[in-house]
Amino acid sequence: MKIAILSTKRTLYSTRRLAESGRKRGHDMRIINPLQCILSASSEGLLLQSDGLPLNDFDCVIPRIGASMTQHGIALLAHFELTRTFVLNSSTAIALSRDKLRTLQYLAASNVPVPATVAVHSSETIDAALQRVGSPVIIKLLSGTQGIGVIKAESIDQARSTVETLWSLGEDCLIQRYIAESRGHDVRVFVVAGKVVAAMNRQASEGEFRSNLHRGGTSSPANLSARESEVALRATEILGLSVAGVDMLITPDGPLVIEVNSSPGLEGIETTTGRDVAREIITCVEAEVGTRKLT
Ligand SMILES: Nc1ncnc2c1ncn2[C@@H]1O[C@H](COP(=O)(O)OP(=O)(O)OP(=O)(O)O)[C@@H](O)[C@H]1O
Ligand SMILES: [Mg+2]
Repeated sequence: MKIAILSTKRTLYSTRRLAESGRKRGHDMRIINPLQCILSASSEGLLLQSDGLPLNDFDCVIPRIGASMTQHGIALLAHFELTRTFVLNSSTAIALSRDKLRTLQYLAASNVPVPATVAVHSSETIDAALQRVGSPVIIKLLSGTQGIGVIKAESIDQARSTVETLWSLGEDCLIQRYIAESRGHDVRVFVVAGKVVAAMNRQASEGEFRSNLHRGGTSSPANLSARESEVALRATEILGLSVAGVDMLITPDGPLVIEVNSSPGLEGIETTTGRDVAREIITCVEAEVGTRKLT
């Protein structure tokens, strides 16, 4: 097969692992830099070029789109979808997963457990909203990543001034109950093709509440309960993702999903669990493309 990986840097761990894993299985792996791509739509139809060459004979595209270029990345994926190239995570599913509030709305609508979360857009409504989630609260930019844009506010006053400041910067945000019983611990579940392929615990460093490895968190392999697996699989299914990294807080009453990542990193999960997640993704592509060729 001829498989494209949409990634800005071929030296990134995840991109490198996917390329080498695909080549090991005999595939023609190409790394396409979204920053080099020119998208065009005209009466002649659609055209996508990189370095002046048309990009049109791939069996599959594996998106590795960073948070900083979501819109451009989604436009590229829509091009491939509209020109009948199979895309591993669809443009719609990625767009949904990149908006933390929309994600939680979709999950809550399907009774997937999530922390109590509110969203408002005027100072008049902040206090009533904050009453609903209590304090402390977690305030999040809708499309932050790696723990950036995730703020803990200890008091109602702090929460109000933080939200109003973000609004003054033109940023929308969500306000979420701080799940104290998580004590800086969460679980990252890696799902591929409707199957949990690996999971890791993450523990925040001293004095930090965010367990992200990019914020100094430490990790260890996780054994999930049946309920935790079920919730992670359901969350991924509802968002329509084939590959996802589901972040869950673990409480005595069960797991709470905080977000679903559509381009989850491979380094943390592979080095922590020893699982060959890249191969799981490539075999998922083989199965999907194989099925499509039969129909
Ligand atoms: N409601 C909450 N209560 C307690 N801790 C929380 C809550 N929400 C988030 N956290 C902590 O903050 C971390 C970052 O939050 P979240 O996953 O929403 O943001 P992120 O920056 O998008 O992360 P990623 O890099 O996974 O995309 C979580 O991994 C968790 O440790
Ligand atoms: Mg996260």
